[in-house]
Amino acid sequence: VSFRRACVIGHPVAHSRSPLIHKHWLAELKIEGDYVRQDVPPEQIAAFLKNFGGSGFVGANVTVPHKEAAFRALKRPDPVAAHLKAANTLWLENGELNGMNTDVYGFLAHLDESVPDWNRGARSAVVLGAGGAARAIVYALIQRGLEKIYVVNRTLERAEAIAQEFGKGVSAAAWNTLPAKLREASLVVNATSLGMSGQPQLDVDLKRMRADSIVYDIVYVPLETPLLASARARGLRAVDGLGMLLHQAVPGFEKWFGVRPKVSHALRAVLLQDLGAKGRAS
Ligand code: ATR
Repeated sequence: VSFRRACVIGHPVAHSRSPLIHKHWLAELKIEGDYVRQDVPPEQIAAFLKNFGGSGFVGANVTVPHKEAAFRALKRPDPVAAHLKAANTLWLENGELNGMNTDVYGFLAHLDESVPDWNRGARSAVVLGAGGAARAIVYALIQRGLEKIYVVNRTLERAEAIAQEFGKGVSAAAWNTLPAKLREASLVVNATSLGMSGQPQLDVDLKRMRADSIVYDIVYVPLETPLLASARARGLRAVDGLGMLLHQAVPGFEKWFGVRPKVSHALRAVLLQDLGAKGRAS
Protein backbone atom coordinates (compact mmCIF):
# COMPACT_ATOMS: atom_id res chain seq x y z
CA VAL A 1 0.00 0.00 0.00
CA SER A 2 1.37 3.37 -1.00
CA PHE A 3 1.60 6.46 1.16
CA ARG A 4 -1.86 7.83 1.94
CA ARG A 5 -2.92 11.27 3.01
CA ALA A 6 -6.15 12.42 4.58
CA CYS A 7 -7.20 15.80 5.91
CA VAL A 8 -9.71 17.76 7.92
CA ILE A 9 -11.59 20.36 5.93
CA GLY A 10 -12.90 23.43 7.73
CA HIS A 11 -12.87 27.20 7.86
CA PRO A 12 -11.16 28.15 10.06
CA VAL A 13 -9.45 24.83 10.72
CA ALA A 14 -6.34 25.78 12.70
CA HIS A 15 -8.00 24.81 15.99
CA SER A 16 -8.88 21.28 14.82
CA ARG A 17 -7.47 18.51 16.99
CA SER A 18 -8.15 15.83 14.38
CA PRO A 19 -4.52 15.75 13.12
CA LEU A 20 -3.34 14.90 16.64
CA ILE A 21 -5.71 11.96 16.79
CA HIS A 22 -4.94 10.51 13.37
CA LYS A 23 -1.19 11.08 13.56
CA HIS A 24 -1.18 9.27 16.90
CA TRP A 25 -2.88 6.26 15.30
CA LEU A 26 -0.63 6.35 12.22
CA ALA A 27 2.46 6.24 14.46
CA GLU A 28 0.99 3.64 16.82
CA LEU A 29 0.00 1.32 13.98
CA LYS A 30 3.18 2.06 11.98
CA ILE A 31 1.21 3.06 8.93
CA GLU A 32 2.84 5.22 6.27
CA GLY A 33 0.55 8.17 5.90
CA ASP A 34 -0.26 11.68 6.87
CA TYR A 35 -3.18 13.75 8.04
CA VAL A 36 -3.26 17.52 7.61
CA ARG A 37 -5.50 20.53 8.09
CA GLN A 38 -7.07 21.89 4.91
CA ASP A 39 -8.61 25.33 5.15
CA VAL A 40 -11.23 25.75 2.45
CA PRO A 41 -13.24 28.98 2.36
CA PRO A 42 -17.00 28.66 1.82
CA GLU A 43 -16.89 29.97 -1.74
CA GLN A 44 -14.47 27.20 -2.71
CA ILE A 45 -15.93 24.20 -0.92
CA ALA A 46 -18.25 22.98 -3.69
CA ALA A 47 -15.41 22.98 -6.25
CA PHE A 48 -12.96 21.44 -3.77
CA LEU A 49 -15.29 18.51 -3.11
CA LYS A 50 -16.17 18.10 -6.78
CA ASN A 51 -12.48 17.73 -7.59
CA PHE A 52 -11.64 15.77 -4.47
CA GLY A 53 -10.42 12.84 -6.55
CA GLY A 54 -7.62 15.03 -7.88
CA SER A 55 -6.63 16.45 -4.51
CA GLY A 56 -4.24 13.67 -3.58
CA PHE A 57 -6.21 12.82 -0.45
CA VAL A 58 -7.79 9.41 0.13
CA GLY A 59 -10.41 10.97 2.37
CA ALA A 60 -11.27 13.67 4.84
CA ASN A 61 -13.03 14.73 7.96
CA VAL A 62 -15.27 17.73 7.59
CA THR A 63 -15.88 20.30 10.27
CA VAL A 64 -17.68 23.62 10.65
CA PRO A 65 -19.01 25.15 8.41
CA HIS A 66 -18.76 22.52 5.67
CA LYS A 67 -20.68 19.46 6.91
CA GLU A 68 -23.81 20.39 4.93
CA ALA A 69 -21.83 21.10 1.77
CA ALA A 70 -20.09 17.74 2.22
CA PHE A 71 -23.46 16.02 2.41
CA ARG A 72 -24.62 17.75 -0.77
CA ALA A 73 -21.54 16.50 -2.61
CA LEU A 74 -22.48 12.85 -1.99
CA LYS A 75 -24.42 10.61 -4.34
CA ARG A 76 -24.91 7.88 -1.74
CA PRO A 77 -24.62 9.17 1.84
CA ASP A 78 -25.10 6.72 4.69
CA PRO A 79 -28.53 6.81 6.41
CA VAL A 80 -27.32 8.97 9.30
CA ALA A 81 -25.81 11.62 7.04
CA ALA A 82 -28.91 11.44 4.85
CA HIS A 83 -31.16 12.17 7.80
CA LEU A 84 -29.00 14.90 9.32
CA LYS A 85 -28.13 16.35 5.89
CA ALA A 86 -24.59 16.67 7.19
CA ALA A 87 -21.49 14.54 6.61
CA ASN A 88 -18.25 14.67 8.59
CA THR A 89 -16.32 11.78 7.04
CA LEU A 90 -15.47 11.35 3.35
CA TRP A 91 -13.52 8.78 1.37
CA LEU A 92 -12.88 7.90 -2.25
CA GLU A 93 -14.16 4.61 -3.58
CA ASN A 94 -13.48 3.78 -7.22
CA GLY A 95 -12.91 7.45 -7.82
CA GLU A 96 -16.27 8.42 -6.37
CA LEU A 97 -16.70 10.54 -3.24
CA ASN A 98 -18.49 8.65 -0.47
CA GLY A 99 -19.43 9.90 2.94
CA MET A 100 -21.05 9.30 6.28
CA ASN A 101 -21.81 11.01 9.54
CA THR A 102 -19.95 9.62 12.54
CA ASP A 103 -21.02 12.21 15.12
CA VAL A 104 -23.93 10.03 16.20
CA TYR A 105 -21.63 7.01 16.49
CA GLY A 106 -19.05 9.03 18.46
CA PHE A 107 -21.61 10.40 20.87
CA LEU A 108 -23.03 6.93 21.60
CA ALA A 109 -19.72 5.07 21.68
CA HIS A 110 -18.37 7.39 24.36
CA LEU A 111 -21.58 7.22 26.39
CA ASP A 112 -21.65 3.41 26.15
CA GLU A 113 -18.04 3.26 27.24
CA SER A 114 -18.43 5.76 30.10
CA VAL A 115 -21.73 4.49 31.50
CA PRO A 116 -22.35 1.02 30.05
CA ASP A 117 -25.80 0.69 31.61
CA TRP A 118 -27.01 4.22 30.76
CA ASN A 119 -29.72 2.99 28.45
CA ARG A 120 -31.23 0.58 30.95
CA GLY A 121 -34.40 2.17 32.20
CA ALA A 122 -33.52 5.54 30.68
CA ARG A 123 -36.77 7.23 29.89
CA SER A 124 -36.42 10.87 29.20
CA ALA A 125 -33.56 13.10 28.20
CA VAL A 126 -33.00 16.81 27.94
CA VAL A 127 -30.88 18.13 25.08
CA LEU A 128 -29.69 21.71 25.50
CA GLY A 129 -29.18 23.44 22.17
CA ALA A 130 -30.68 23.24 18.70
CA GLY A 131 -27.74 23.40 16.29
CA GLY A 132 -26.18 20.61 14.25
CA ALA A 133 -24.71 18.91 17.30
CA ALA A 134 -28.07 18.87 19.07
CA ARG A 135 -29.74 17.31 16.02
CA ALA A 136 -27.14 14.54 15.89
CA ILE A 137 -27.69 13.84 19.59
CA VAL A 138 -31.48 13.75 19.29
CA TYR A 139 -31.05 11.31 16.40
CA ALA A 140 -28.73 9.17 18.56
CA LEU A 141 -31.11 9.07 21.52
CA ILE A 142 -34.06 8.12 19.33
CA GLN A 143 -31.98 5.33 17.83
CA ARG A 144 -31.46 3.99 21.34
CA GLY A 145 -35.17 4.04 22.07
CA LEU A 146 -35.53 6.98 24.42
CA GLU A 147 -39.20 7.67 24.71
CA LYS A 148 -39.17 11.33 25.60
CA ILE A 149 -36.64 13.92 24.51
CA TYR A 150 -36.94 17.59 25.40
CA VAL A 151 -35.01 20.03 23.26
CA VAL A 152 -34.38 23.17 25.26
CA ASN A 153 -32.91 26.16 23.49
CA ARG A 154 -32.53 29.90 23.91
CA THR A 155 -34.24 30.40 20.56
CA LEU A 156 -37.38 28.31 20.98
CA GLU A 157 -38.18 28.24 17.25
CA ARG A 158 -35.02 26.28 16.51
CA ALA A 159 -35.99 23.71 19.14
CA GLU A 160 -39.47 23.54 17.63
CA ALA A 161 -38.00 22.86 14.21
CA ILE A 162 -36.12 19.85 15.61
CA ALA A 163 -39.24 18.59 17.39
CA GLN A 164 -41.21 18.86 14.18
CA GLU A 165 -38.52 17.13 12.18
CA PHE A 166 -38.24 14.13 14.50
CA GLY A 167 -41.91 14.00 15.48
CA LYS A 168 -43.32 11.79 18.19
CA GLY A 169 -41.35 11.72 21.40
CA VAL A 170 -39.39 14.90 20.75
CA SER A 171 -40.70 18.17 22.21
CA ALA A 172 -39.39 21.69 22.29
CA ALA A 173 -39.29 23.42 25.64
CA ALA A 174 -38.50 26.95 26.68
CA TRP A 175 -35.38 27.59 28.74
CA ASN A 176 -37.42 28.56 31.81
CA THR A 177 -39.05 25.12 31.96
CA LEU A 178 -35.66 23.47 32.40
CA PRO A 179 -35.93 22.79 36.16
CA ALA A 180 -39.13 20.80 35.68
CA LYS A 181 -37.73 18.88 32.71
CA LEU A 182 -34.55 18.00 34.59
CA ARG A 183 -36.58 16.44 37.38
CA GLU A 184 -37.96 13.93 34.88
CA ALA A 185 -34.77 13.30 32.96
CA SER A 186 -32.28 10.49 33.39
CA LEU A 187 -29.85 12.18 31.00
CA VAL A 188 -29.05 15.78 30.18
CA VAL A 189 -26.72 16.70 27.34
CA ASN A 190 -25.22 20.12 26.73
CA ALA A 191 -25.04 20.61 22.97
CA THR A 192 -24.69 24.40 23.14
CA SER A 193 -21.42 26.26 23.05
CA LEU A 194 -22.04 27.56 26.58
CA GLY A 195 -19.32 26.70 29.06
CA MET A 196 -16.66 26.59 26.35
CA SER A 197 -13.68 28.80 27.15
CA GLY A 198 -14.38 32.30 25.91
CA GLN A 199 -18.15 31.72 25.96
CA PRO A 200 -20.69 32.57 28.66
CA GLN A 201 -21.25 30.02 31.40
CA LEU A 202 -24.05 27.52 31.23
CA ASP A 203 -26.19 28.18 34.25
CA VAL A 204 -28.12 25.01 35.01
CA ASP A 205 -29.22 23.97 38.45
CA LEU A 206 -28.84 20.20 38.71
CA LYS A 207 -30.20 19.81 42.20
CA ARG A 208 -33.54 18.46 41.03
CA MET A 209 -32.00 15.69 38.99
CA ARG A 210 -32.31 12.17 40.32
CA ALA A 211 -29.21 10.77 41.97
CA ASP A 212 -28.64 8.22 39.20
CA SER A 213 -28.83 10.73 36.36
CA ILE A 214 -26.13 11.35 33.80
CA VAL A 215 -24.78 14.73 32.71
CA TYR A 216 -22.99 14.76 29.34
CA ASP A 217 -21.25 17.87 28.07
CA ILE A 218 -20.01 17.83 24.49
CA VAL A 219 -17.80 20.86 25.20
CA TYR A 220 -14.20 19.71 25.76
CA VAL A 221 -12.34 23.01 26.15
CA PRO A 222 -12.12 23.06 29.11
CA LEU A 223 -12.49 19.33 29.63
CA GLU A 224 -13.99 19.77 33.06
CA THR A 225 -16.70 22.32 32.34
CA PRO A 226 -18.51 24.00 35.24
CA LEU A 227 -21.53 21.85 34.33
CA LEU A 228 -19.55 18.62 34.75
CA ALA A 229 -17.91 19.87 37.93
CA SER A 230 -21.32 20.62 39.36
CA ALA A 231 -22.60 17.18 38.31
CA ARG A 232 -19.67 15.45 40.01
CA ALA A 233 -20.13 17.56 43.12
CA ARG A 234 -23.70 16.23 43.32
CA GLY A 235 -22.58 12.65 42.79
CA LEU A 236 -24.15 12.45 39.33
CA ARG A 237 -22.37 10.60 36.54
CA ALA A 238 -20.45 13.07 34.37
CA VAL A 239 -19.44 12.36 30.76
CA ASP A 240 -17.03 14.76 29.06
CA GLY A 241 -16.87 15.82 25.41
CA LEU A 242 -13.40 14.58 24.55
CA GLY A 243 -14.42 10.95 24.14
CA MET A 244 -16.99 11.88 21.50
CA LEU A 245 -14.28 13.64 19.50
CA LEU A 246 -12.00 10.61 19.75
CA HIS A 247 -14.65 8.02 18.88
CA GLN A 248 -16.09 9.92 15.91
CA ALA A 249 -12.62 9.73 14.34
CA VAL A 250 -12.46 5.90 14.38
CA PRO A 251 -14.59 5.00 11.31
CA GLY A 252 -12.79 7.48 9.06
CA PHE A 253 -9.34 6.22 9.97
CA GLU A 254 -10.48 2.67 9.25
CA LYS A 255 -11.83 3.67 5.82
CA TRP A 256 -8.65 5.52 4.80
CA PHE A 257 -5.93 3.36 6.30
CA GLY A 258 -7.59 -0.05 6.54
CA VAL A 259 -7.21 -0.69 10.27
CA ARG A 260 -9.78 0.04 12.96
CA PRO A 261 -7.91 2.07 15.60
CA LYS A 262 -8.55 2.04 19.35
CA VAL A 263 -9.49 4.94 21.58
CA SER A 264 -6.90 4.31 24.27
CA HIS A 265 -5.73 6.05 27.41
CA ALA A 266 -2.54 6.94 25.56
CA LEU A 267 -4.53 8.75 22.87
CA ARG A 268 -6.59 10.54 25.45
CA ALA A 269 -3.40 11.61 27.20
CA VAL A 270 -2.06 13.14 23.97
CA LEU A 271 -5.18 15.23 23.61
CA LEU A 272 -5.26 16.19 27.27
CA GLN A 273 -1.74 17.46 27.06
CA ASP A 274 -2.61 19.54 24.02
CA LEU A 275 -5.69 20.94 25.69
CA GLY A 276 -3.55 21.84 28.66
CA ALA A 277 -6.17 20.23 30.78
CA LYS A 278 -5.41 18.68 34.07
CA GLY A 279 -8.96 17.35 33.96
CA ARG A 280 -9.84 14.01 35.38
CA ALA A 281 -10.03 11.03 33.07
CA SER A 282 -13.67 10.00 33.00
P1 ATR B 1 -23.62 23.58 16.19
O1 ATR B 1 -24.21 23.38 14.83
O2 ATR B 1 -22.14 23.38 16.24
O3 ATR B 1 -24.33 22.80 17.23
P2 ATR B 1 -24.87 26.23 16.42
O4 ATR B 1 -25.87 25.93 15.37
O5 ATR B 1 -24.15 27.53 16.36
O6 ATR B 1 -23.72 25.15 16.50
O7 ATR B 1 -25.57 26.07 17.84
C1 ATR B 1 -25.06 26.62 19.00
C2 ATR B 1 -26.06 26.37 20.11
O8 ATR B 1 -25.60 27.07 21.29
C3 ATR B 1 -27.44 26.92 19.81
O9 ATR B 1 -28.39 26.09 20.41
C4 ATR B 1 -27.40 28.30 20.49
O10 ATR B 1 -28.67 28.79 20.85
P3 ATR B 1 -29.55 29.65 19.79
O11 ATR B 1 -30.15 28.65 18.85
O12 ATR B 1 -30.54 30.35 20.62
O13 ATR B 1 -28.56 30.56 19.11
C5 ATR B 1 -26.60 27.98 21.72
N1 ATR B 1 -26.00 29.19 22.29
C6 ATR B 1 -24.89 29.83 21.86
N2 ATR B 1 -24.64 30.92 22.62
C7 ATR B 1 -25.63 30.97 23.55
C8 ATR B 1 -25.93 31.84 24.65
N3 ATR B 1 -25.16 32.90 24.91
N4 ATR B 1 -27.01 31.55 25.40
C9 ATR B 1 -27.79 30.49 25.13
N5 ATR B 1 -27.56 29.63 24.12
C10 ATR B 1 -26.50 29.85 23.34
